[in-house]
Amino acid sequence: MKTEANSKIYTHSILGAIGKTPVVRLRHIVPPNSADVYVKLEYFNPTGSYKDRMALAIIEGAEQKGILSSGMTVIECTGGSTGTSLAMVCRAKGYRFKVISSDAFAKEKLQAMQLLGAELELEPSDGGKITPDLVPRMIKRAENLAGQPGYFFTRQFYNEDAFVGYQKMAEEMISQLLPQRIDAFCGAVGTAGMLMGTSKYLKKVNPTTKVTVLEPASAPLLSRGEKGIHKVDGIGVGFVPPLLNKDFYDDIRAVDETEARATAKKLAAEEGIFAGTSTGLNVAAALKIAAQLGAGHTVMTVACDTGLKYLSSGLFD
Ligand SMILES: Cc1ncc(COP(=O)(O)O)c(C=O)c1O
Repeated sequence: MKTEANSKIYTHSILGAIGKTPVVRLRHIVPPNSADVYVKLEYFNPTGSYKDRMALAIIEGAEQKGILSSGMTVIECTGGSTGTSLAMVCRAKGYRFKVISSDAFAKEKLQAMQLLGAELELEPSDGGKITPDLVPRMIKRAENLAGQPGYFFTRQFYNEDAFVGYQKMAEEMISQLLPQRIDAFCGAVGTAGMLMGTSKYLKKVNPTTKVTVLEPASAPLLSRGEKGIHKVDGIGVGFVPPLLNKDFYDDIRAVDETEARATAKKLAAEEGIFAGTSTGLNVAAALKIAAQLGAGHTVMTVACDTGLKYLSSGLFD
């Protein structure tokens, strides 16, 4: 396995520390006769999640198009990871950042956004649950504010500049795994930016790579058209994300949330990989795909963010 892509170099700003994350092969929780399972540790990014890649790509995409310039305010509605990443990028580049979020999301994320300089506004949730109406309400509020002059709404649910950031992640995955090919890739979707951006490039390089969309089993909107309630931060947003494109995935799987949480715990206890709930969901599905593919194949998935963000959420109780 190549190691050059893993080395961080001297960088004159925090933005240069985005990307070049390590890939680890799971050694203890993969049953015999399964495919090898690799996890890209995206919590090595500056704010601890892959959303840093998206935030940088979207802000620089807007600068290049001339729709964002100095003195403007960036606005977004987010469960926290996107907001933390955008807050970091805006701080590094000197933009004001206004964020619409909710008390349904991890307290650590809300605090992190504020510490990175974001102005935070909360939409009240139904007792801390991510109900189907919550994200649409947050979007509506952000859209109202974004109508004012001097604002740039990053529109993470529609903004295809995100793919630029995730293409870099896919390039890293491919070079880190050489000479092996990636037979299967899976990931849970919120905006679907990560899965689509990664898949576009993986399939371009190797059209036989099978890509699976993941969602929580209690909110199987994409697999069965049914809305539902769950507590996995960042995914299962209550509507079909506009960035999700049938040309770039092969399958959809619903994963039980209890299994996702148990897998996140096992990842920490047995592999030393301390990541959040959506990562547990990704790895739970990757293990199933690996069992189906069998030995001699490779499955890749992503550790979306660090488990440190979920210590107060009960994930590791
Ligand atoms: C922790 C976490 N996992 C997964 C996702 C889903 O990523 P995407 O929006 O690229 O589909 C998000 C999105 O916010 C997230 O915060």
